[in-house]
Formats: sequence, C-alpha cells, structure tokens
Amino acid sequence: MEQEITIAIDGPAAAGKSTVARLVAEKLSYIYIDTGAMYRALTLKALQKRIDLDEEKPLADLLMHTEITLEQKGEGQIVLLDGNDVTWEIRSQKVTSHVSYAAKHPAIRKEMVERQRALAARSGVVMDGRDIGTHVLPDAEVKIFLVASVEERAKRRYEENLQKGFYPDMEELKREIEERDRIDSEREAAPLIKAADATEIDTTSLSINEVAQQILNQAATLTNG
Ligand code: C5P
Repeated sequence: MEQEITIAIDGPAAAGKSTVARLVAEKLSYIYIDTGAMYRALTLKALQKRIDLDEEKPLADLLMHTEITLEQKGEGQIVLLDGNDVTWEIRSQKVTSHVSYAAKHPAIRKEMVERQRALAARSGVVMDGRDIGTHVLPDAEVKIFLVASVEERAKRRYEENLQKGFYPDMEELKREIEERDRIDSEREAAPLIKAADATEIDTTSLSINEVAQQILNQAATLTNG
C-alpha cells in the first residue's frame, strides 16, 4: 500500500489554494481541510452576535462555545456552524472583509491550531491556509506556497463572482485582496509567510490542473519510494 503523507498549502488571498488543494485531495483520495473556513465561520457568528472583532477576550469566549465542523460531501466541503450549514454564507463580502481582524488574535489562533491539528491527526490530509507549513503542520512532508499577481487573483475572484451572478467592482476586489494580505502578513501571531522549506509556485500563468500536477509529482516522489 502507498504510504500516506500530509500536504500543506499556504499563500495569500485568492491565490487558488482551495481549488488546487481540493483537486489534489481528490486525486489522492485524501481528506481536504480548509482552515480559512474555520476563521470565516467564527467571524460570521461574531458578526451575527455583534461581537467586536478587535476584542480578543469576547471573541475567544465565543470560540469556546462554537462548534465548527468540516464535512466532506461529494467533491465539495460543507461547513457547519453549531450544526447549521453556512457553506455559502461564510463566503459573503461582509465575512471576507472582516475575517482577517478575527484571525489576528493569538488566543483565537491557538484554539484554531489545536482543532486543525486534531483534524489532521491521521495522514492522508491536504490542508490549506496561511500558517499551515510554518505553524499548524511544520512536519508536513510536502509544503507548497502558492502566489499569483494581485491582478490575476482579482480577475479570478471577479470570474467566480460572475458565475454566482454578482458583478463586483474590479478595483474594489483588488483593494480587498491587498488589504487582507497586508493584515495577514503584518500580524504578530503566525503571520502569512512562506515556510523556509516550502516550494513556491507562481500560479499567475498556470492552470489549476498544472499547479495540482506539480504538487502531485512532488507527493509521488515521497509516496512511491
Ligand atoms: O483562505 P481564506 O481566504 O478563506 O481565509 C480567510 C482568512 O482567514 C484569511 O484572510 C486569514 O485572515 C485567515 N486565515 C488564517 N490562517 C489560516 C487560514 C485563514 O489566518 N490558516
């Protein structure tokens, strides 16, 4: 039997991490864990309860009483917040523009990282986020850091939005992506940064399949040996 490994995929906002991670997981029959969805779910609940995202303590208390479940369903992933399906709601513009404020607090990150490590306790996992290779799974056998120009990332988000029937403003999308990257990179607790031993892949002019294939090739050198 092939040996199962752990694959960590990090990178800035809208670099294609989740699409690529899902594809790689599907090809290998691994579990896909979207850690951004966990921060998004907490942010959604805090916004609903009007909890100030800048205040660490009330937010951490809220997280202690919050159940976030990631369920594999077919080729997708369902996100349950206290048992309710919030898969679509957590992708809203409001959650997207607020999530980085919730994610910057050390107490929040500590709890999330514990939950994420528990989810990845067995091998055969592809996990994507911002701090997976550096903090959550520093021993992951494959570490990837995906990057793409901000123009390309905004363009991809624009097209995703069009498919959902929204007509976003391109400049606004670009600003939101840059702002999120800035907050994620400048925070003190586990900032967005490439792990020293990660392979950087610039996806600007690559297709999803080409990026996934590069990762699968790397994984194959470890599992076939
Ligand atoms: O990956 P996604 O864009 O859904 O992540 C949403 C936000 O969650 C990021 O902008 C970041 O603030 C936070 N995040 C994080 N650490 C992770 C995953 C996401 O801080 N591992």
